Amino acid sequence: MRLILLGPPGAGKGTQAQRIVEKYGIPQLSTGDMLRAAVQAGTEVGKRAKAVMDAGKLVSDDIVIAIVSERIDQPDCENGFILDGFPRTLVQADATEAMLKGKGLELSKVVEIQVDDKILADRVSGRYTCANCGAGYHDTNVKPKVEGVCDRCGSTHFKRRPDDNRETVVTRLGAYYKETSPLIGYYYAKGKLQSVDGMADIDHVTGEIEGILSKL
Ligand code: AP5
Repeated sequence: MRLILLGPPGAGKGTQAQRIVEKYGIPQLSTGDMLRAAVQAGTEVGKRAKAVMDAGKLVSDDIVIAIVSERIDQPDCENGFILDGFPRTLVQADATEAMLKGKGLELSKVVEIQVDDKILADRVSGRYTCANCGAGYHDTNVKPKVEGVCDRCGSTHFKRRPDDNRETVVTRLGAYYKETSPLIGYYYAKGKLQSVDGMADIDHVTGEIEGILSKL
């Protein structure tokens, strides 16, 4: 199964991708996570990407396409993968098609998670993750069962992303509408698009996505 999760910042792409990983055992390829890892490691790519990401703008297509192209050649992607946050421009979408075609593979489905703009700033600014295992939480929507302790690994260390603030969300949302939303029509025209209601609670959204994936 080769899946794309599409949606604005805070729509729930990462949250749902983690659940698909658990159920279907295919890896989540998050370009945001890969770029953040490059920033953390201080690589050349990381140095070029940091300021762009902190400002909420998009990293250049050539960098992101190269990262994904290399990643989908890894053995754990043989049975499929979930693209989370990629493609994000029409150039990236065309590159994805060429990449898959070159490997004799086909995209299974694009799931668009639809959310009202007005709740996105709350979702993004309230988000934090376990610094040890990456499990995702939210100040009000998704709290750990024991306050200050990660449900998954027991760590007491959490972190927040530097771009998760209300000001940057406005820029990120602008980039989404300008660069990424045209992909909705792009994939609709190819008969690959299905949309789910991302305003529903997390379990409900998962159920909707599983309903789509069960028919593949
Ligand atoms: P990236 O890391 O991809 O961020 P994003 O697309 O802005 O998406 P988010 O991770 O913010 O949101 P999400 O949809 O995953 O939401 P989540 O599940 O966490 O990109 C970051 C930056 O990297 C970009 O700005 C850009 O600079 C660069 N970049 C990355 N890819 C690129 C590319 N391809 N090209 C160029 N540049 C690129 O949920 C958010 C919160 O809401 C969580 O706390 C969660 O618990 C909660 N939540 C989720 N679902 C629900 C629900 N249904 N109900 C209530 N709460 C919910």
